[in-house]
Amino acid sequence: MIKPHGSNTLNPLYVIDDEQRAERLQAAEKLPKLLLNSAAAANAVMLGAGYFNPLTGFMNREDSLSVAQSLKTTDGLFWPVPVMNRTNSIEGIEVGAKIALLDPNEPGNPVMATQTVEAIEELSDADIELMISEVFGTKDPEHPGVKTFESLGNFVVSGPIEVLSYSYFQDEFPGTFNTAYEIRDEFAKHGWEKVVAFQTRNPMHRAHEELCRMAHEQLGTDGILIHMLLGKLKPGDIPATVRDACIRKMVEVYFPPNSVMISGYGFDMLYAGPREAVLHAVFRQNCGCSYLIVGRDHAGVGDYYGAFDAQTIFSERVPEGALEIEIFEADHTAWSKKLNRVVMMRDVPDHGKEDFVLLSGTKVRQMLSKGEAPPPEFSRPEVAQILMDYYQSTV
Ligand code: ADX
Repeated sequence: MIKPHGSNTLNPLYVIDDEQRAERLQAAEKLPKLLLNSAAAANAVMLGAGYFNPLTGFMNREDSLSVAQSLKTTDGLFWPVPVMNRTNSIEGIEVGAKIALLDPNEPGNPVMATQTVEAIEELSDADIELMISEVFGTKDPEHPGVKTFESLGNFVVSGPIEVLSYSYFQDEFPGTFNTAYEIRDEFAKHGWEKVVAFQTRNPMHRAHEELCRMAHEQLGTDGILIHMLLGKLKPGDIPATVRDACIRKMVEVYFPPNSVMISGYGFDMLYAGPREAVLHAVFRQNCGCSYLIVGRDHAGVGDYYGAFDAQTIFSERVPEGALEIEIFEADHTAWSKKLNRVVMMRDVPDHGKEDFVLLSGTKVRQMLSKGEAPPPEFSRPEVAQILMDYYQSTV
C-alpha cells in the first residue's frame, strides 16, 4: 500500500487508548480553555484521524504564509493549505502553557483536544488578504470559503496537539465516518494494494458513478474508496445523511459486492477549488489510496475557477516527487444520446453539445423539489427517489 505523506508510517494525533484518553480528558478540565472555531475543530479532527499526517499540530504564522504562497512549510514539507487555530480571544492563554481546546459543534462545548502553545501571533490584515488570495484565488467576500476565512479571528495559536474526541462525527455518522488508519486497516483486510479514491460532497448521479467505474477499470485498481465530506457545507447543499443514503443505495444496486468502500471524513468544505484538490490528494494518500479522481470543477463553487484548474495545479504547483498519489484526470462526463451510455467528452470528439444529457444543478433541484425524477440517464431512479423524498420533506 502507498506510504503516508511525509513519513513511513501514519502518526495520528488521536489518543487511541480508552483509559489514557479518559485520563487526559479529566486532566484537561483544569487547563485554560480556548473555544475553537468550526474550521479549527475540523482541522483537529483531521489531525487526530491521521489524514493530515505528518503535521503535529497547528501551524504558526510563518508556516501558514509559506504554505499559502509556496505550498510548503518553512521546513520544506509539501502542504497546500494553512492549518491554523485562529481566534479573536486569547485571554488566559500563554506561550508555553498547555491548553484545552473546546468543541464548538457539540452542546456544552466539551474538550476535544489539548494543545501546547508554542506561539501566539497576530495576523495583519495584509497577512489575511495574502492567504485568501493565494489559497482561494479570489478576494471576493461573496465566495463562501473567503467569507468563512475572513471571520476566523486575527490571532494564530500554534503548537502540537493531542486529540481526544472526533466531535459529532462518530455519533452522527456511525459506519460512515472513518479515520485514515481505519481505512488503511480496511484496505489491508480486503487485500487491496491499489485503491482509487472518489471525493464527493454530492449525492452521486450517473456521471459520478461512471467516473468511479472508468477510473477503476482503466487504472486496474483493487477497489474504489468513495469518500464523502461529512463536515459543514454552504446553505442549500444536501445534508450528509441524505448523500450517504444515496451513495449506499447506488453502490448496493449497481456495483459488484466488495468492490467499493463507502466512507466519510470530518472536514468542512473550503470551496478552494485547485488548492483543495491538492489537499484532497494529500489526505487520500494518507488513507492509503494510490489515485484520486479529479474531474470537472473539483471542489469549486460558482464561476471562480476554470473547469480543469484543479487538474492543472498538479503539474504547475506540485513539485516532482512531492506526492506519491497520482491523479486520474477526468474530462466532463455525461450521458451520450448517440451511444446510450455515459462517456467522457474527450472520448467522443464527434459529439456536439446536443448529443449529451446535460442538466444544471439548479434544474435538477427544481425537478426534485416538484417531485419529478430527473431522467434515468442523469440519475439512477433509486437515488432520485431518496432525493425527491428529501426535497419534499423540506417544503
Ligand atoms: S466536490 O466538491 O466534492 O469536488 P462533487 O461531489 O460534485 O464536488 O464532485 C466529485 C468529483 O466528481 C470531483 O472530482 C468532480 O470534479 C467530479 N465531477 C462531478 N461531476 C462531473 C462531471 N459531470 N464530469 C466530470 N467530472 C465530474
